[in-house]
Amino acid sequence: MAADEQKRAAGEAAVDLIEPGMIVGLGTGSTAAAFVRSLAIRRIDIRGVATSEATADLARLLKIPLLELNEAKDIDITVDGADEIGPGLSLIKGGGGALLREKLVWEASRRCVVIADAAKRVTTLGAFPLPIEVVAFGHATTLARIEAVLQSFGLAVFPHLRLRDGAPMRTDNGNLIYDAACGAIEDPAGLAAALKAVTGVVEHGLFLNLADTALVGTDQGVVTLGV
Ligand code: A5P
Repeated sequence: MAADEQKRAAGEAAVDLIEPGMIVGLGTGSTAAAFVRSLAIRRIDIRGVATSEATADLARLLKIPLLELNEAKDIDITVDGADEIGPGLSLIKGGGGALLREKLVWEASRRCVVIADAAKRVTTLGAFPLPIEVVAFGHATTLARIEAVLQSFGLAVFPHLRLRDGAPMRTDNGNLIYDAACGAIEDPAGLAAALKAVTGVVEHGLFLNLADTALVGTDQGVVTLGV
């Protein structure tokens, strides 16, 4: 089964978890978009909280009513994609640049379900470059401190400023992203805490102890993984 079909199957399977009246966090990326489309097709009466402007645009197009995160204090479930799914449903997210809003919505959710194609499963996180969102002001100095943190974890990595159309990409929050091709992250929890402690770092793409369930599209159908 092609990756796109696996993503679509995982997105459809996630719709089975949605009940009328729920407030649903809507993830970002191609897999989350497949979920949002399936949700609209089934016409379940929910209100969504979008994790990005792109997802909000899609939801509006599909006539899914939206709430701002501030209005939706209690999100029943969030369904979102991932760039890597590691042991214990540890994740790398943010390939689409929406990591900050995604993490805000995930942390406000009672249940978080990650949906993905089979290629996203890994035994060790880090082959996918770790996105690190930083404020634009003084970002070169922030980068130097990020590199020092990475080196202290044995990662001789020089993160790259993410570009779009040849210019630094701005997130929905007006920030910049550095992508750190770590290779293998042996201590995700330690690295997550150390990166968060750097002034100028707004968020990073390590999502640890947040996902409750993963629905992974495979050639044998959709496989459910728990923590
Ligand atoms: C968006 O910022 C990301 O976290 C996405 O959820 C992630 O990149 C997965 O994207 P795809 O579903 O397009 O693979």
